[in-house]
Amino acid sequence: MQDQDNVTRILDAFRSTDAPLLPVLQAVQAEFGFVSEAAMREIANALNLSRAEVYGVVSFYHDFRMEPPAQPVVKLCHGEACQARGLRQLLTQMTRIEQEQLEPVYCLGLCAVGPAAMSPNGGVHARLDAGSLRQLLEDPR
Ligand code: FES
Repeated sequence: MQDQDNVTRILDAFRSTDAPLLPVLQAVQAEFGFVSEAAMREIANALNLSRAEVYGVVSFYHDFRMEPPAQPVVKLCHGEACQARGLRQLLTQMTRIEQEQLEPVYCLGLCAVGPAAMSPNGGVHARLDAGSLRQLLEDPR
């Protein structure tokens, strides 16, 4: 459950921002890991938008979640440079359960040092091999 006071605090922080919807949604997602129905309702009310408008933005962008993640998810780059640097072989070394904890993304800006991943707190990790990726899944930071 997202604490309503925290959503209100985030809304207050962006109240004077032009076009605050995306920054507010990003801040809510960063704090809670997802954007709940209640948060969308509060954001819509505070920004004088319809709930459909807020829902439309949340559902449009792949990075927003409407449900809490079942487990920490690590974003693993599937971009071309990371593929060229051994992504496919890396994936074959991961178990099915480990692979389910990996969310594919396309380029984290670390192309020269891939395969690359991003942990739930935004930390980036480069030159991954099976051991370091497994360690990141066990202790995402
Ligand atoms: S392609 Fe993977 S970081 Fe750019």
